[in-house]
Amino acid sequence: MEGYSYGMVGLGVMGRNLLYNIADNGFSIAGFDLDEEKVKDLHEGANSKMKIKGTGSLEDFVSALETPRKIILMVPAGKPVDAVLESIKPLLSKGDIVIDAGNSYFEDTNRRIADLASNGLHFMGMGVSGGEKGARTGPSIMPGGDLEAFHLLKPMLEAISAKVDNEACTAYMGKGSAGNYVKMVHNGIEYAIMQLISEAYDLLKKGANLNNDQLYEVFKEWNNGEMNSFLIEITRDIFQQKDSLTEGYLVDQILDKAGAKGTGKWTSEQAMEIGVSIPTIDIAVTSRILSAYKEERVQASQLYSGKEMMSPEDIDGFIREVGDALYLATLISYAQGLALLVKASQEYGFEIPLKDVVKIWRGGCIIRSVLLEKFYSAYTRDPDLSNILLDKDISVIVKGKIASLRKVAAFAVSNGIPSLGLQTALGYFDAYTTESLPVNLIQAQRDYFGAHTYQRIDREGVFHTSWQNVNQ
Ligand code: 6PG
Repeated sequence: MEGYSYGMVGLGVMGRNLLYNIADNGFSIAGFDLDEEKVKDLHEGANSKMKIKGTGSLEDFVSALETPRKIILMVPAGKPVDAVLESIKPLLSKGDIVIDAGNSYFEDTNRRIADLASNGLHFMGMGVSGGEKGARTGPSIMPGGDLEAFHLLKPMLEAISAKVDNEACTAYMGKGSAGNYVKMVHNGIEYAIMQLISEAYDLLKKGANLNNDQLYEVFKEWNNGEMNSFLIEITRDIFQQKDSLTEGYLVDQILDKAGAKGTGKWTSEQAMEIGVSIPTIDIAVTSRILSAYKEERVQASQLYSGKEMMSPEDIDGFIREVGDALYLATLISYAQGLALLVKASQEYGFEIPLKDVVKIWRGGCIIRSVLLEKFYSAYTRDPDLSNILLDKDISVIVKGKIASLRKVAAFAVSNGIPSLGLQTALGYFDAYTTESLPVNLIQAQRDYFGAHTYQRIDREGVFHTSWQNVNQ
């Protein structure tokens, strides 16, 4: 059969799974990969109902597609995307659509949109979250860019995405490279939540001496209540995974050096670039960097040994407080990421619909959680909310948990348990909710040594003072 509705370039696990998902939903789709093994795997894993074709020839692939062609790229971000575009561009016709579904940097997408547009082609950046399993069964999909092209893809995207209350976890994320930008910030929030969960684990393990079976029970209970989320759910399961090489649990055999592919770092860089404060995301990125200094940490822990651990008296109460602290710090991390999207939308003219962002993050993606329902309600009340912490209903939740976050953060500090994520979430909250910050003094210092000027609270204008050195 020729005239396939869709094309997929890149048949690695993500590409193949997304292709099967599309085919399962009744759309015909051709797949291309230079690696013949992957093409063979594609055919072997397919079922007879799927209308699919795999090929190792780019010419065959392109000519098998109906026009306008709708070609999804699922290849590693960076040079591989440009390499595919260079080889495929000469084979395409005016009006064809190329959709980059990888974690591409948004500025690269802007460049590619302009480049393909000069050939009469549409290029879209589309975030896809949910890992391998999500791609196969229903991810959260964040497309942005060309509206006309988006409308052509919409029925397919709605069919293959995750559903929450029968609503598809996909929506138009805004102009230009908004789809990639929203996915980048999703990942930044993902980094922060993972950091916070790891700190809660550390507090329960070192502070309350819980073993893996007990940790499993705690995370199970958390996941059954208001903290229900994908990351809490998988953490629960991790505590039950036995090691196949030794006795005991796998988690205890895993080296404490965290990897990263770069999307968290981009989020932090972006926030600095456009002037948004996202300290819990920043700290999550830098904590992974710090974790890599394993050898130095071992040396330093010997040099500075002797930390004394004071166990909490009421263990059940402590577990509850750690849960509340984690819940609130998670909420604050979402607040930081969403505030970044608000500013980026203005800065780059994306017109990102925040309400739709939180709506489609409710299912399919790595940061899905029931908490997003509350954000969805908040943005329904006020779509222009600049920070989720300013919503009245959210403030009620925050007020109910803040004492626990303070107590748990204080416990960590006094016992020397690293808790950079919890501390920054609390510090951000305290700074954000403080009417008068002490930066009047910073302004005075800047003006003192550099004549950088300052504003006053009692009158308009810009002022400079010849500051007196009292020792002269
Ligand atoms: C997703 C994930 C995914 C991410 C990986 C690895 O939404 O499915 O965010 O896109 O790339 O989880 O991220 P790091 O290697 O940077 O941790």
